[in-house]
Amino acid sequence: MTVKKLKSNAHGKLGVLLPGLGAIATTYIAGVIATNKGLGNPIGSFTQNNRIRLGKRTENRNPIVADFVPLAKLNDLVFGGWDIFEDDTYEAAKTAGVLENNLLDQLRDEMEQIKPMKAVFDKEYVQLIDGPNVKSGETNWDLMEALMDDIKNFKEKNNCDRLVMIWTGSTEKYVESSDVHQSIEAFEAGLKNNDPRISPSMIYGYAAVKSGVPFANGSPNLAADTPALVELANKLKVPIGGKDLKTGQTLMKTILAPGLKARSLGIEGWFSTNILGNRDGQVLDHPDNFKTKEVSKLSVLDSILEPETHPELYKDLYHKVRINYYPPRGDNKEGWDNIDIFGWLGYKMQIKIDFLCKDSILAAPLLLDITLLLDLAQRAEMFGIQEWLSFFFKAPQTKEGLTPIHDIFLQKVKLENTLRHLMGENLITHLGLDYYEE
Ligand SMILES: NC(=O)c1ccc[n+]([C@@H]2O[C@H](COP(=O)([O-])OP(=O)(O)OC[C@H]3O[C@@H](n4cnc5c(N)ncnc54)[C@H](O)[C@@H]3O)[C@@H](O)[C@H]2O)c1
Repeated sequence: MTVKKLKSNAHGKLGVLLPGLGAIATTYIAGVIATNKGLGNPIGSFTQNNRIRLGKRTENRNPIVADFVPLAKLNDLVFGGWDIFEDDTYEAAKTAGVLENNLLDQLRDEMEQIKPMKAVFDKEYVQLIDGPNVKSGETNWDLMEALMDDIKNFKEKNNCDRLVMIWTGSTEKYVESSDVHQSIEAFEAGLKNNDPRISPSMIYGYAAVKSGVPFANGSPNLAADTPALVELANKLKVPIGGKDLKTGQTLMKTILAPGLKARSLGIEGWFSTNILGNRDGQVLDHPDNFKTKEVSKLSVLDSILEPETHPELYKDLYHKVRINYYPPRGDNKEGWDNIDIFGWLGYKMQIKIDFLCKDSILAAPLLLDITLLLDLAQRAEMFGIQEWLSFFFKAPQTKEGLTPIHDIFLQKVKLENTLRHLMGENLITHLGLDYYEE
């Protein structure tokens, strides 16, 4: 794919459509409104907080990313979405219990206006919750078209210039990509004859891409990660990305594992367990839904450590991930890692991590960055899988046959170099020998 140099600026309103208005979505929305009202800072956001180096180190050009690339302004974001529950985003944020009521009350007027549209839902895919705010239709094709109508109406009603959709709904049960997902024709036939292998997140993904709206997936289910959706995205020239936001324990893993590998330290075992008590935890208490998450979480270490090329260090690595639903903790997850490592002459050591983390507080800035950068991708005429956004995802979507990059530092280099490339700046290789040449 050739990337065109970015010319167009981010004029007008950018609509952000979120299927699933639960903890991460409402924390994101509240954070943007709070920032716009001067009540908070979007800490953790790459685009709003990070500086990007341009040119040589001696030039001292290090702008904030948002000042370097023409991104939509936070004031220009307009939120909408779907949920199976009827609560507006103020109520939903209170139920999620992430942000304090004192803050939410100051955002109440704005958040009460964001009410969920009726969802496309299939209990087969998320068995442990059910709600009344659901569309009915004879076929999944009808439901897909109803979503396209919602998208069009939202855009008109809110006077949006452009839209972005990010799946922030529950993790769906595990399904593998099969014949119905292999081509546009097979997928459309499957929508028309209600093929049970097509999940709601795929229907949202299809409706978005068919409407020309960039789509990303914040959870681990397939959604747009199928040949059919990729084909549609390429055909209609729409950017897509995923999957599963890189927060919490996996964030720690992708920070720590590259460091241990860089020092050639061996790893014998990595045991990760979590307790969390939010609705996400409730959904993941079902084995079919946990399986989807497990696959996404397990893929990380192999890709970073490459046991096949370093058998002496990693071939016996035992990697286990558990998530336990424990209501008293709500969104305040606790994640423990025990890492059995070995060094010089095979001597054993242990690392213990106890991460008292607020999952949605880590997820919200990623949603903001993905929104702004997917919109940028579309304005830069980039389309199909946006692998350069891997930095934000636990299970980065890549072209078939390409091994995803999980190492967060490599992902950051890729992300920054893509931005430099878009803006016509020199790429940075970190070679640096020229500083020492006379
Ligand atoms: N919290 C995190 O840090 C984090 C990190 C990575 C990924 N995720 C993923 O993000 C997703 C959302 O997490 P959360 O903590 O906000 O969960 P949540 O349960 O609070 O919110 C999910 C919402 O999606 C709604 N929903 C489910 N199916 C739907 C459908 N078909 N259409 C519309 N709405 C639907 C639910 O009713 C719920 O309100 C999950 O898949 C989770 O695994 C979360």
